[in-house]
Amino acid sequence: DQESFIRKPGAPLRVWAHRGGSSAAPENTAASDEVARRGRAEWIENDVQPTKDGVPIILHDTTVDRTTDGTGAVRSLTAAQVAGLDAGSWFAPAYVGQRVPTLASQLDGLKTRGGNLLLEVKGEHTRASVERIVQEIHSRGMSSRVFVQSFEPQHLRWIRELAPELPLGLLRSTLDPDPVAIAKDLELSAYNPSDAAFQTRPGIVAELHAAGVAVNVWTVDDATRWNALEKAGVDGIITNRPAELTGWNTAF
Ligand code: G3P
Ligand code: CA
Repeated sequence: DQESFIRKPGAPLRVWAHRGGSSAAPENTAASDEVARRGRAEWIENDVQPTKDGVPIILHDTTVDRTTDGTGAVRSLTAAQVAGLDAGSWFAPAYVGQRVPTLASQLDGLKTRGGNLLLEVKGEHTRASVERIVQEIHSRGMSSRVFVQSFEPQHLRWIRELAPELPLGLLRSTLDPDPVAIAKDLELSAYNPSDAAFQTRPGIVAELHAAGVAVNVWTVDDATRWNALEKAGVDGIITNRPAELTGWNTAF
């Protein structure tokens, strides 16, 4: 049986650092990891997608344009080309020299420095690209420190088949008519709606908890909403401000 991600009564909200501590440092880089770590966030959220030559890298957009000094679709660039890009200068001059991490380097860093990974299988994937992700996790013995999420049920089915030990979360920007049914079908540990979607039906918390499924809401950066979501009984918050959320958590 898998670990439950449901919050115990009185326990603080679980803090998932969205793309790292991405309000204070360039998203999905070692620098934003460091912000999250210093902020005592136990989990870092990163997006993973394959390069042209099939190497899983940590990047959100389908192109490198917004978050690096390069241009082009991730799938048109080799891992070597991506490795030459600067992923910090767009954010602030202090971050020049930040690189686009590979999944391998990210897992190595977490293994050395501590912390856990909420890995979003982002965008388009094939079974082979998902298999490569699983290999990187397995070859490092990191299964107990990785949680996988995706908007795409098929990605989660492949992960379940290739790595049955990994906890899974389904991302949603509108709620399913029956979240419990899809959670059971996909054997989810968590159902992760956007805050806007969650607000259309906060009653899903009780329904999903009765089925053993946790609820994590994204991407929420203000204390008014943290407070409302805590009261609504959600288990965790995916936030760009992890240090502030851990501070808020311990303040009451
Ligand atoms: O973790 C939830 C969130 O990351 C999903 O949206 O676009 O930030 O990947 P996005
Ligand atoms: Ca994401």
